[in-house]
Amino acid sequence: MCEKKKTGILGLGKYLPEKVLTNQYFEKIVDTTDEWITTRTGIKERRIAREDEATSDMATEAAKRALAQANLKAEDIDLIIVATITPDMFFPATACLVQQKIGARTVPSFDISVACSGFIYGIAIANQFISSGTYKHALVVAAEKLSSITDWSDRSTCVLFGDGAGAAVLGSVDEGGILSVYLGADGKQGDLIKLPGGGSRIPATKKSVEDKLHFIKMNGAELFKHAVRIMADAALKATQPIGLKAEDISLVIPHQANVRILNAAAKRMGLSEDKIYLNLDRYGNMSAASSAVALVEAVESGRIKKGDKILLDAFGGGLTWGAIVIEW
Ligand code: ACO
Repeated sequence: MCEKKKTGILGLGKYLPEKVLTNQYFEKIVDTTDEWITTRTGIKERRIAREDEATSDMATEAAKRALAQANLKAEDIDLIIVATITPDMFFPATACLVQQKIGARTVPSFDISVACSGFIYGIAIANQFISSGTYKHALVVAAEKLSSITDWSDRSTCVLFGDGAGAAVLGSVDEGGILSVYLGADGKQGDLIKLPGGGSRIPATKKSVEDKLHFIKMNGAELFKHAVRIMADAALKATQPIGLKAEDISLVIPHQANVRILNAAAKRMGLSEDKIYLNLDRYGNMSAASSAVALVEAVESGRIKKGDKILLDAFGGGLTWGAIVIEW
């Protein structure tokens, strides 16, 4: 029997493409205004990857930075998980591409497809392998090139999304670490956000392209309602079993879909809005990469200090959701 150990984050890294698209850009391509986007979503700008830049390229940069911060080499990694809904291709897995690009050993490497909850699911999986003693170090990367699946003529979705990557190296820690994990999914609500084309149900054809089935289709208003309820409920399910109350949480690192969702969820959780970390004004919704990049930036900016109890909280397509409490 292997000894149970606590898992913690040893290093973090992010990569954001250089190109910035402001709300003013969208005023030129669809019937929208900066005022509508800002007041309805909180988003002011987002990053867009170069045409020749794929998800694995962004994931690799974020991974290298996380390894450097953890003071580890690629050969020290025993497991690689990439959370993405925009893999470079169906297969090989983007995690295998990242393994090769960072120069890791032939360790287990796989992708998970749970949309915006991907970073949390990835950490939850890595936690199992590390706390059981099976592996010493895991690399979890959340990376998305949502611009590649966005319908740039659909004003109800194109203003929301951005590209980027965040990565975490996980290993055993003597102090703090992951205190609680809660995950869930509801396949009945799968139609609320999906990419219908290109899979075995509707393989890519001239017609599927003409019908724009390779782009995100979303029922925003319905998702909004589910998101508020799910995020507040997931927070409760992750904190209650370990005896934590809302006031014990120093900072919530949420998935960054819409500032109105986050303010409504904060209210339901009994938390003041200033305890919710926000960076969606600069990046929009980067799906799985959102909470990863938010965590990196919250640490970089000094919003998270040693001993703080933080809550990662996300919901996404599937529907999927998850919340994790970490003592820093
Ligand atoms: N500019 C101007 N008007 C717009 C725009 C736009 N960019 N987009 C939509 N509208 C219009 C609509 O056409 C509609 O007009 P109508 O009343 O004449 O029909 C009106 O604005 C209101 O539309 P709603 O969809 O009701 O607007 P809402 O206030 O719900 O905001 C939004 C829309 C921002 C999409 C919101 O519903 C939302 O954030 N939902 C959650 C989305 C989400 O979380 N997605 C991510 C899921 S995670 C993942 O898996 C990637």
